[in-house]
Amino acid sequence: MRHQPIDSLLFKTNRERFIHRLPENATAILFSNDQYPRNGDQLFKFRQNSDLFYLTGIDQEKTILMISPNCPNQKLRETLFIIKTNEKLATWEGHKYTIKEARDISGIENIFWLDDFEASLRESLSSTKTVFLNSNEYVKFFNDVSDKNHRFALDFKNKYPLHKMERAAPILTELRTIKSAEEIKLIQEACDITHKSFERILKYTKPGVHEFEIEAEIDHEFTINRANGHGYAPIIASGKNACVLHYIDNNEVCSDGDLLLMDFGAEYANYTADMSRTIPVNGKFSERQKDCYEAVLRVFKELRKLYIRGNTPDFINTSAEKLMEAEMIKLGLFTAEDVKNQDGDNPLFKKYFMHGVAHPIGLDVHDVGSKYAPFAPGMVFTCEPGLYILEENIGIRIENDILITEDQPIDLMENIPIEISEIERMMNESL
Ligand code: GLY
Ligand code: MN
Ligand code: MN
Repeated sequence: MRHQPIDSLLFKTNRERFIHRLPENATAILFSNDQYPRNGDQLFKFRQNSDLFYLTGIDQEKTILMISPNCPNQKLRETLFIIKTNEKLATWEGHKYTIKEARDISGIENIFWLDDFEASLRESLSSTKTVFLNSNEYVKFFNDVSDKNHRFALDFKNKYPLHKMERAAPILTELRTIKSAEEIKLIQEACDITHKSFERILKYTKPGVHEFEIEAEIDHEFTINRANGHGYAPIIASGKNACVLHYIDNNEVCSDGDLLLMDFGAEYANYTADMSRTIPVNGKFSERQKDCYEAVLRVFKELRKLYIRGNTPDFINTSAEKLMEAEMIKLGLFTAEDVKNQDGDNPLFKKYFMHGVAHPIGLDVHDVGSKYAPFAPGMVFTCEPGLYILEENIGIRIENDILITEDQPIDLMENIPIEISEIERMMNESL
């Protein structure tokens, strides 16, 4: 594995919390992600299923976790099934976990080969009332690709129609929403690697560089710092491209006088950072760019104070809209009078600011959790107001990752340059 070893206590504790929420005589069965075909005999790079990683720390395909806390056979109470390697697999694909390695990483005592799964499942089901299976229940996600958890659920229903089935997802959502101290350290590491990459970019950016050259600099810094790569496709958007919210082509030249909006985050041990910064390509903001940037920064700073227990992401989103609307009036994008007369279903600010600002991060960049659930200590959310004025070639987003605590919020990206003076100074230091 690329990241530094993680104490198996993290995964053991996660499983204990999960088991605590299961009823009597339950069995939970969770699968790793599929390996998705790319072309010919090639596969996309494997990324572990976040829930399976959360409960096991195992970063290998075709892994199955079976938890059956009341099973009379003690060996089946907490069991991991992994690929059994052979000479051919070792030659073509390299190392697969040994039993001992899987045990050390996950803290699970009973590690079996995959061949043992069917018989073990059958045995544990004889004393099981309710079977908990997993599914991706992200609210905005419409999956038209099957995955192993889904296929297994369909198969299971057919093979064992008399067993009661339940969703594991609500339990895992509840657990994953609150990050433990160990998880926060991993997220902080992802933020710190992202920080290093941004400082590298500040020195590197100048008129004439391509967006993809900047992406390559980020890749380099991520990899030498043990990141798996990016937590999501990086957005390196200069000029008008910054007004495309999910711009990921990253193919154009950065021009003198343009702004460059970058939204990227390192993924470390499967935990991701999510950062946005906007800088002037030539190292100096124009007066208009400065005014717009300061407007977004002011809103960012106001919003950040609201990441306290009891508030909700939905409230942060609504507050961001009000604050950005006031800033837009100051920037002359429309007048207070225009706002009074606007169509309430289609407010004027939406033309220049059309996204939410607070989403949870963790193992997924848009992590599990509801925007209506109140903030609680241990949650980590982004704060990302933006302003997009296409007719002026201006797209600005500022985004940090904020930890909710008992008291005041902690900005995990506090030290990443954000003020105009810092950005300009660092961009011009290397000249
Ligand atoms: N990078 C994705 C987002 O900011 O939500
Ligand atoms: Mn974000
Ligand atoms: Mn982002």
